[in-house]
Amino acid sequence: MSDQFKKQAAERAVEDVSSGMRLGIGTGSTAELFVHALARRVADGLDVIGVPTSERTAKLASSLGIRLTSLDEMPQLDLTVDGADELDPNLALIKGGGGALLREKIVAAASTQMIVIADSSKAVETLGRFPLPIEVVPFGLEATRHAILKVLADLNLPEELELRGGKTDPYETDGGHYIFDAHLQQIKDVKTLADRLAAIPGVVEHGLFINLATKAYVAGADGVKTLWPV
Ligand code: A5P
Repeated sequence: MSDQFKKQAAERAVEDVSSGMRLGIGTGSTAELFVHALARRVADGLDVIGVPTSERTAKLASSLGIRLTSLDEMPQLDLTVDGADELDPNLALIKGGGGALLREKIVAAASTQMIVIADSSKAVETLGRFPLPIEVVPFGLEATRHAILKVLADLNLPEELELRGGKTDPYETDGGHYIFDAHLQQIKDVKTLADRLAAIPGVVEHGLFINLATKAYVAGADGVKTLWPV
């Protein structure tokens, strides 16, 4: 069922795309449904150019005939369409379940608009049930882990960090970094946590996306709802 909802949200978002647009193209199963829907419109003559947020998305989009470029060639984009792991009523997001948070955030920040596409299970009152991905450099991993744990303790959040993939074979991002998933349950003060994590030298980026999404299409049993930041 959720796949059907993801598809409905993706198809609604593709209606917002018009010829001439410079697009950021997200990563994940919902974003992939958007890529397929976009490719159908491109085959019908829609003229757009896209910047992919991962190698995986790049491969899929180019195999389907979507013209791609990079942020070096095209540093300003009109619209990014991407999925999310969670979104709150103000359209703050947790992203990075698929490991592409760094490129996703760079691309979203370079876009005038960002549309989030999701099935209704992703919409929550308070972020945190989905583990928060924190992308870190491999150098000094243990010191960075300690610094993150200190922030969590200071903010009265559970000190539960898991290195994605495990110590012997850690998951590596497109940028060659590792990811800690933080099991926080409820993040009451999203902004403070975001700022404190960003201030740790070994943290490259975290999966809290604040003030980036300008609209969301959330699909569920009662249709596709449009949400804006409150
Ligand atoms: C990728 O790094 C993530 O941010 C995805 O956008 C997010 O995990 C949503 O993925 P699904 O659409 O597969 O749920």
